[in-house]
Amino acid sequence: MSFIYVIAGKRGLGKTTLLKSLLENYESSNIIVFDYLSEYDIENFNIAFGLNEINQNILNKKDKYVKLIFRPNKEDNLTIEKSFDKICEIVLLSNNTIFIIEECDNFCSPYYLSEPFRQIIEYGRHQNISIIATTRRLGNLNRSLTAQANKLFTFRQTEKRDLEALNFLGLNINQVKDLDNFKYIEYDL
Ligand SMILES: Nc1ncnc2c1ncn2[C@@H]1O[C@H](COP(=O)(O)OP(=O)(O)O)[C@@H](O)[C@H]1O
Ligand SMILES: [Mg+2]
Repeated sequence: MSFIYVIAGKRGLGKTTLLKSLLENYESSNIIVFDYLSEYDIENFNIAFGLNEINQNILNKKDKYVKLIFRPNKEDNLTIEKSFDKICEIVLLSNNTIFIIEECDNFCSPYYLSEPFRQIIEYGRHQNISIIATTRRLGNLNRSLTAQANKLFTFRQTEKRDLEALNFLGLNINQVKDLDNFKYIEYDL
């Protein structure tokens, strides 16, 4: 079963650390990480620098599952947003894939959602494509993504707009405002 998980909370509270620990549960899935912040280096994962290396990685794969960390490369001559869309297109060609997006509000907003990312969110489940996305600003994610999310892991949040987004999802704002560092609450949506 595919899923969409969102991990939200202020900077430095443990979102990326939690996400990496979740990945340990998905040995028998393809995993593609859009690692534009160069934070990922995981045993048994290949790192592709730029789009050319992605094709090589997928075509020459020795293992049953693709475990790929993609880092955009200047030589691709693409903006970070275009580079993200290219990876979305590659994800859309796959099956049984978990797509990892850090700081996802950089790639969608309440007013913007690119077509390939929209397709993953809306139709990915037909190909068993899942998403795990982090954000510092829950209120800045596109509503399609939060509306389709199955789980929200939230660290402390304090901004009005983000608390409103929590409220909109029916969650307990007071609990989230007072969370200690590195503590999170997991909600089924
Ligand atoms: N549960 C934890 N206990 C102690 N330190 C943690 C914990 N989770 C994360 N950290 C540390 O806090 C820092 C920020 O974590 P990170 O996961 O990068 O946060 P975020 O992605 O939310 O900005 C890192 O140095 C990380 O090692
Ligand atoms: Mg992080």
